[in-house]
Amino acid sequence: MRPAAFLLFALALAGCRGNKSEEPPVHVFGDMDWQPKYQWGEASPFFEDGRAMRPIVDGTVPVGHLDEDDAYYRGKDAKGEFIGRAPLEVDEKVVRRGQERFNIYCAPCHDMSGSGRGMVVQRGFPPPVELSSDRVRTMPDGQIFDTISHGVRNMPSYRKQIPVADRWAIVTWVRVLGKSQHASIDDVPADKRSAIEPEGDAQ
Ligand code: HEC
Repeated sequence: MRPAAFLLFALALAGCRGNKSEEPPVHVFGDMDWQPKYQWGEASPFFEDGRAMRPIVDGTVPVGHLDEDDAYYRGKDAKGEFIGRAPLEVDEKVVRRGQERFNIYCAPCHDMSGSGRGMVVQRGFPPPVELSSDRVRTMPDGQIFDTISHGVRNMPSYRKQIPVADRWAIVTWVRVLGKSQHASIDDVPADKRSAIEPEGDAQ
């Protein structure tokens, strides 16, 4: 190739890159760009309902999501009643995880202590019930799980944001909050009491 021809060729190639143009782009392999296929949500005259996407057959279960365990996935027993205790082994790790998730997802309304004066409420959202109230303290764990999953009255549902395991972890933290407002000094091991008693409190 002569140098002048090469230069012209190089310039022509460079011209395809980076410049703005009103012209449609060059499609080197057209069959990759124009395929006889439907995209998500497109219309199709082929089917009676005019949709290219077919409805899922009744009873379809995504692989790995049978979620048969009613207690774990719905907080209910075989009779459909709320279960009393969270169906998992509770240790400090679970409770701490619950605390962390609670402070992210619940504290904006319920505040970190559960008293219900979170920032969203201070800006006008209807105040929720105190999580240390008798109402919540006497609720079965399954009902708190259900409240997170589906919401209740003014409270929206959080099942899309919070996976099942974290919902249960949060339930354990709601229990801690309930207890924290109704604990007596007898709940604290004797050797730890001096650490929490306010200094100079003579009574
Ligand atoms: C957007 C604000 C908001 C957020 C976030 C929120 N809640 Fe609530 N929650 C409410 C309100 C408001 C109520 C009171 C509902 C009513 O009585 O209308 C409530 C009620 C409750 C109740 C009592 C239900 C009952 O039957 O009385 C529980 C338990 C509860 N929330 C737990 C949680 C937990 C756990 C989270 C975090 C996963 C959470 N909430 C996040 C606003 C919120």
